[in-house]
Amino acid sequence: MPDDLPEYAKTQLAFHRAFGRDLVRGVRGAALPRRGTVLDVPAGDGFYTVHLARRLHPHGRVVAADISPAYLARAREGVARHDRLAPVEFREADAYALPFDDAKFDAVWCAESLISLTDPVKALREMGRVVKPGGAVLVFEADEFHHVVLNWPVPLELAVSRATAAATRAEYGTAAALSPARKVRAWLAEAGLVTGPKRTIVADRVAPFGPALRRFLRYRFAETRALVAPHLSPESLTAYDAATDPQHPDAFLQKPDAELTCLTSLFLARRPVPA
Ligand SMILES: C[S@@+](CC[C@H](N)C(=O)[O-])C[C@H]1O[C@@H](n2cnc3c(N)ncnc32)[C@H](O)[C@@H]1O
Repeated sequence: MPDDLPEYAKTQLAFHRAFGRDLVRGVRGAALPRRGTVLDVPAGDGFYTVHLARRLHPHGRVVAADISPAYLARAREGVARHDRLAPVEFREADAYALPFDDAKFDAVWCAESLISLTDPVKALREMGRVVKPGGAVLVFEADEFHHVVLNWPVPLELAVSRATAAATRAEYGTAAALSPARKVRAWLAEAGLVTGPKRTIVADRVAPFGPALRRFLRYRFAETRALVAPHLSPESLTAYDAATDPQHPDAFLQKPDAELTCLTSLFLARRPVPA
């Protein structure tokens, strides 16, 4: 990854490559106005921008907004690699102070970003401001504790969950800091939006895992290790290293019965229509 993208960018890219066809079901299931203009914020590398623009082709438009010029450049490159997309405009923008008039958009899409947006209610309120009355704010999010579920040893799973809670509490002041999905409906309501249904996209994989999934797991295991290692007992850390080193005889990836389930939830809310 270039220096100007955050460290998590490579995991994010690997995640989209491993689960792309499942995540796209989230976009397909979203209540999007075919003829309208949709704001994708923050757009990141444009993974969802492409799929939103495909969904809105030929009558709609997408505006891809992000605070990072490096990410916007990535998104621009990603969109340019596809055809049969609705027109896409790229805007450098702060999600807390969007440079758009009130009620400009027919819908707003916000994916996998409420960890990065440390004041999610403020950002969601801004999204509610720029969407038309009755328009949808669609949030696609995960919960660290249930995002990637593995059928590895139960004691290891419990130890990793406990260490994740301790690490996030120590770093961010709350054990739920990496679990936006469990808060999204409350945040949407606090932001003045009318909450609607939740739909979870389930991606199941069984061994043997393909290269894209193996790559994603390599990054994820390394990220998780960096987070939890100081909070694991020496025995649990040894078990974690054995399970996540693909060369180790106890490696999760060596198990012929290895299974993985990935959960990402789509939350629908609408800007209230004045009486
Ligand atoms: C984890 S990425 C997700 C992006 C994209 N939606 C996706 O799913 O790939 C989080 C994004 O939030 C952006 N970001 C962080 N703070 C922001 C802010 N205040 N305003 C706008 N974008 C912001 C980052 O630049 C990054 O692109």
